[in-house]
Parts: sequence; C-alpha cells; structure tokens
Amino acid sequence: MKQSYQNPSHSFDSMLELTTSMFMHIEHELFWQPYLPQLENLLDIGCGTAAYLSELHRRYPHIAFTGIESNDGLVALARKRTYNDIQLVHSRYEDYQPKQRYTAMLLRLVIQHIPNRLQLLSWIDRYLEPGGFVFIIDFADENFTGDILLPRFTALFHNLRASLYQHRTFLTMRDTIRLEYQQRDFALLDTHYYNIDAHNPVMKQHMLAYMHLVSAQYGNQAQRDLIVPELEAWSSNTDGSLALPMFGMVFQKQ
Ligand SMILES: C[S@@+](CC[C@H](N)C(=O)[O-])C[C@H]1O[C@@H](n2cnc3c(N)ncnc32)[C@H](O)[C@@H]1O
Repeated sequence: MKQSYQNPSHSFDSMLELTTSMFMHIEHELFWQPYLPQLENLLDIGCGTAAYLSELHRRYPHIAFTGIESNDGLVALARKRTYNDIQLVHSRYEDYQPKQRYTAMLLRLVIQHIPNRLQLLSWIDRYLEPGGFVFIIDFADENFTGDILLPRFTALFHNLRASLYQHRTFLTMRDTIRLEYQQRDFALLDTHYYNIDAHNPVMKQHMLAYMHLVSAQYGNQAQRDLIVPELEAWSSNTDGSLALPMFGMVFQKQ
C-alpha cells in the first residue's frame, strides 16, 4: 500500500478510520449486532490492515478475534494496529492449519480475490464448528453506476472490480455463492442488500477518504494525478454523490 499518496487534509490512518466507520455504521446494524454477542471467536480471512477487525474488537472485546492475511505490507500495518489483542496470522489461508475450530468466519471484500472458491469452502467447512456462521460481505458490482462528476474514479473502480472476475457467468456473485454454500449444506440465514452512500456532508467526507485510499492503492501515478483534482471538485460540489452497492450473506453450517 502506498502511504505517500494521501488526501492532503488527512493522514493515512485517519483516512482508513473514516473509511472503516463509513462501512461499519450500517454493517454493524445488519450483521454484528444480531450475531456477534453469541459468538466465542471469529476468524477474518484476508483481514488486510485489520482496521475493520480492530473496530469489531473495540465493540465486542469478549470475542477472540483472529485475522489471517497473506500480504507482507498489510500484515505489517495490521501488527501496528492490533498490538496483542487480536491474533494475527501471516499466511495464505491455504497454508494455515488452525489447532481449533472457529465459531464464525468473515470474508469481507475477499471472495473475488480467491481463485478457487470451492477449495476455500472446503477449508471453511473443515475448520468451522457445526452450527458456526460464515459472513460474506462484498460489492454488488452489477449495481455500481458511479457518479457523473467522478468519471475517472468511476472508471478506475469499475475496471478494478471487472479485473477480479475470472469467469463470465450469467449468475450474480451472490447467487453463485448461495448455490455453492447450500450445496455444501450451509443454510442461508440472511441476505442484505444495502448502499453505502454519501447522502450527507459527514458521509461525503468519509466517501472522499475512501476514494483517496482506493486511488492510492490501485491507481497508477497518471491516474492519481487526474483523480485527485476530480475528487476535490466533487467534494465541494453539492451535486456530488456516490453509492457503493453492497450485499452481505450469513450462512450457518448445519
Ligand atoms: C480487498 S482486501 C479486503 C481486506 C479486509 N477484509 C477489509 O474488509 O478491508 C482483500 C484481502 O484478501 C487478502 N487475500 C487474498 N487471498 C488470500 C489468501 N489466499 N489468504 C489470505 N489472504 C488473502 C489480500 O491480501 C487482501 O488483503
């Protein structure tokens, strides 16, 4: 992750925090409030910087959280953030053989990065307690339209997401996942569709931070040079908005 490129008015950490709270605000109500109080432990597969996991830990300190992440740079950032209160495993999930089973696993913005979803599902089945939960949260890519005031960011985001789709299919990702998990005897308990959107000035600042982070992480220098002024113009234009369409599914192992 390139920490040198930043929204001039925010540090990298504060942008990450704004971004996390933008998603957490609604996801807490949909997923964590209803399920987490009853859980003993949770494994976050592909936890990245562990910013999201740290926020879950802050809200639910009684739960033993573990994050697994394969990217060296992200693990280093995660270590700084988590101290000793969250167990971090620096590994690909494929190489991790936990000694215990988990009561819940989280795949947040990860499923599209996994080339072999069925191999992951077998791994989850092996290391999840019977009755355990799997939370899958991701972008509902087919509903993303971007914003007319953000042509360059919209193109970057769209291309980024499109590059993750390896096989064309007529099914949406959430239908594919549902069929794969149900076939493996996981019951679908909940599906939520929701938008993270910049509908008020506070959310707009959070969205701005998110767009800066995405551009920093995934744009090249030429793209960033064009996107930064576009974002600044968008933030001061009262017509500027943006919605990130999301889905989240909760499965229970039978
Ligand atoms: C878009 S990030 C999501 C980070 C985090 N879950 C969040 O919600 O912000 C996807 C992460 O999955 C990680 N990842 C991809 N394949 C992995 C694997 N096989 N084992 C562990 N982590 C993996 C990547 O390194 C990356 O950090």
